[in-house]
Amino acid sequence: MTDYRELNERLRVLTEGVPHEIANLANASALLWESLEGINWAGFYRMEDGLLVLGPFQGKAACIEIPLGRGVCGTAAAQDRTQLVYDVHQFPGHIACDSASNSEIVVPLHRGGVVVGVLDIDSPRIGRFTEADREGLEEFARVLEKTVYGEG
Ligand code: SME
Repeated sequence: MTDYRELNERLRVLTEGVPHEIANLANASALLWESLEGINWAGFYRMEDGLLVLGPFQGKAACIEIPLGRGVCGTAAAQDRTQLVYDVHQFPGHIACDSASNSEIVVPLHRGGVVVGVLDIDSPRIGRFTEADREGLEEFARVLEKTVYGEG
């Protein structure tokens, strides 16, 4: 199990006071990649003119643009709600960037109360993500909102 208290503290130390969004998101994806077991993709999509556009990540090359409301990422952004998907093959409209992915969690990121992107993590294991991951990763997103987007 991931120690999210430790992970989120490492994220805070790594990103606090660094005035570069892309650098911070790149380091954040590297931190997730080395800290979570059983994952095959970890990274970000950023909102640009109403489209989610691929940002810094670790894993295989992925789809570049995701319209709002499409796939797990587009649903999380459109509904402004974390999507914890036990089996992506049961999720209507799931976008398969890597055919090895079987479960996924997507957490929205905000600036000024508006969704500015999403954090996306995939796993080859069905049911890889739990409520503990949801809580820990929502806190991870809150840290980024503070350190990267100046929230709170
Ligand atoms: N599966 C996602 C697309 C992004 S990749 O997983 C990296 C989705 O359905 O939105």
